[in-house]
Amino acid sequence: MSKVKTSFFCQNCGAQYAKWQGQCNSCKEWNTIAEEIIQKEEKSVWKSASSETKKNSKPLKINEIDSTQEVRMDTRDGELNRVLGGGIVPGSLILLGGEPGIGKSTLLLQISLKLPYKTLYVSGEESQKQIKMRAERITTNGDNCYILTETKTQNIFRQIQEIEPEIVIIDSIQTLHTEYIEASPGTISQIRETTAELIKFAKETNIPVILIGHITKDGNIAGPKILEHMVDTVLQFEGDRNHVYRILRSLKNRFGSTAELGIYEMLGSGLREVSNPSEILISHKDATLSGTAIASTLEGMRPLMIEIQALVSTAVYGTPQRSTTGYNAKRLNMILAVLEKRAGFRLGTKDVFLNITGGISIDDPAIDLAVVAAILSSNEDIPIGEGYCFAGEVGLSGEIRPVNRVDQRIQEAEKLGFSTIFVSKYNKISLKNSFIKIRLVAKIEDVASELFG
Ligand code: TYD
Ligand code: MG
Repeated sequence: MSKVKTSFFCQNCGAQYAKWQGQCNSCKEWNTIAEEIIQKEEKSVWKSASSETKKNSKPLKINEIDSTQEVRMDTRDGELNRVLGGGIVPGSLILLGGEPGIGKSTLLLQISLKLPYKTLYVSGEESQKQIKMRAERITTNGDNCYILTETKTQNIFRQIQEIEPEIVIIDSIQTLHTEYIEASPGTISQIRETTAELIKFAKETNIPVILIGHITKDGNIAGPKILEHMVDTVLQFEGDRNHVYRILRSLKNRFGSTAELGIYEMLGSGLREVSNPSEILISHKDATLSGTAIASTLEGMRPLMIEIQALVSTAVYGTPQRSTTGYNAKRLNMILAVLEKRAGFRLGTKDVFLNITGGISIDDPAIDLAVVAAILSSNEDIPIGEGYCFAGEVGLSGEIRPVNRVDQRIQEAEKLGFSTIFVSKYNKISLKNSFIKIRLVAKIEDVASELFG
């Protein structure tokens, strides 16, 4: 073996340098550059069984390219299919990120067990026994599922040639290493090389690969941003560990929209698909309490009814506190300022807490109107009438602005048995013969007087 070669990598963005420096030129972060051992000779490769099968790529006219082969592979999981845009595209590389313990391994193991394809689940984190124990909790038969505990890519490729799976799952990219690079697993150069090998493998064989990636404390996928650029699809599994609901989002998707959302419930027996999320996101209680309002929101193409809770109380300390879960704190401050200035509610000396139930976070501005209603209801200590819900954005002058796809929001509210929905007067509603009462409001004052007289 030749002399050990080293290089310097920014641990944040993955930029490579010949020598150490304090600040990364490319992402401008300080103290992120670290030395890693690399070995450049005899560059790593995924070798197919016979080298003749390797076709040299040559340019084709765009209408000569056969697009019929882009058939999606059904995962037998409605939520995952939707988030991926209809199933797995053969030959694609999917990265699933999420905090430790959120359920990434559970989700992918469960999917491997259900898949109608021969699947190889490679784990560098748990032993075959541990995986088996987990699989038994999930209790689905897994005739097509092979489990391998291995971390070296060359060995993984050898097993792949033997088993010939149709889908490969890797748990996790941070545990993999290739023998052509000397750095330890989880370092930038290892992550980059092993991902590149997997991409080469996926593109040449048309076998899709799903990678699990850990997330660092600040919410990025551990390792270089480069990883996210290299793969075709980046999914994020998120949720509050104290809540049972988990959200699957797509942050990047070369083969579909990134607006879709999948919702799961973590049970003792694995993850359950939640196909009608509105029902679970509204807490069922006997008496109507003040400070809660229901918003009709959209996540991707899917309408969703969510419950917003507000608590307004006199501040005990000098500076009033404002705190939110699942809602943008700056936006709450904006709404409080609008309420104070445009509608004359004295909230300046009050603590305001805002919570979206179910532990999910929403950035659809159409929930503003429900936020206003919840705050006013808590402030006045008068519950909002039963069966009421809201869809509207609040503007800086206190006007209620129209929202997109209002018809869909109204339909969802109607479907779930709401009696009245408040929407902006400026919204064009093309729905006809709906049973739900549509109250058109133009200003915050209109809402306040309608609700509290
Ligand atoms: P895991 O998939 O190991 O998380 P990750 O791979 O993202 O680190 O999830 C572990 C958590 O899920 C753990 O806290 C236990 C819980 N869990 C259940 O509640 N039910 C189950 O059926 C399984 C398998 C796990
Ligand atoms: Mg795991």
